[in-house]
Amino acid sequence: MSKTPTDSLQDAKAFIQDCLKQQMKIVAFSGAGLSAESGISTFRDKNPDALWSKYDPTQLASPEGFQANPEMVTDWYNWRRKKIAEAECNDAHRELAKHPDILQVTQNVDNLLEKAGVSPEKVVHLHGEINKDRCNQWSCGYEEEVDLQQPPRLRKCPQCNQDYLRPGVVWFGESLPEDAWNFATSEISQCHCLLVIGTSATVYPAANLIPVAKHQGAKVIVINTETSGASHLSDWELLGQAGDILPRLFC
Ligand code: OAD
Repeated sequence: MSKTPTDSLQDAKAFIQDCLKQQMKIVAFSGAGLSAESGISTFRDKNPDALWSKYDPTQLASPEGFQANPEMVTDWYNWRRKKIAEAECNDAHRELAKHPDILQVTQNVDNLLEKAGVSPEKVVHLHGEINKDRCNQWSCGYEEEVDLQQPPRLRKCPQCNQDYLRPGVVWFGESLPEDAWNFATSEISQCHCLLVIGTSATVYPAANLIPVAKHQGAKVIVINTETSGASHLSDWELLGQAGDILPRLFC
């Protein structure tokens, strides 16, 4: 007889309780769906507001796009920054924040996990952070925090004065921050349980972290409103909103 969604939730919950009791390593790997209930748009799901159904990532999220029109790219990120500044964390962020031992490996560039109370040392931002700007020339190395509510318009780097400042996020065709990637890979290869929350699991290399966990024997619990690229790797797939499922999984 096949398992019902309630059976799956109960089984996954029993496993989580075991992990917590025995202090076994749990890592959460999240994507845009984690912040969706906070009103932050996802990129490529069925939601009509999904960003890549309305905007062209090659123009807005690539080094070539920035080269071609730095002002447009900066304005688009500033629009997203203001939305993130207004957003409140949701029940999924709040539930994760109740478990300070869980490492949060996220593809999200927002700061909602930190806003919910997760210590910044426990958040690995694989795709960078939108509340930072950096010099477009890697060799310069200049970086600064930006005010999400009132982000500055396109401007030259104050250190080298040679190139523009750009959002501190990872664009298509760029490498992930090396330290973040190495740390995430190492922690995920030692975990007993990987929670995969609100990601289509289609963007690489980040999505490769799921098979890394699976192949070294971790249990994979997928939480998503729909099936995803992680479905076939899941031990338990819990379909629903992260803000509903996560509190029930840990209660
Ligand atoms: P996607 O937009 O690709 O996927 C979001 C996933 O969240 C989908 O599978 C949805 O079904 C799911 N989802 C939506 N609402 C949810 C909810 N309330 N609860 C649970 N799940 C929900 O976003 P990512 O997988 O994060 O990269 O995309 C990965 C990367 O692609 C992003 O980091 C971004 C993008 O291009 C960069 O900007 C570099």
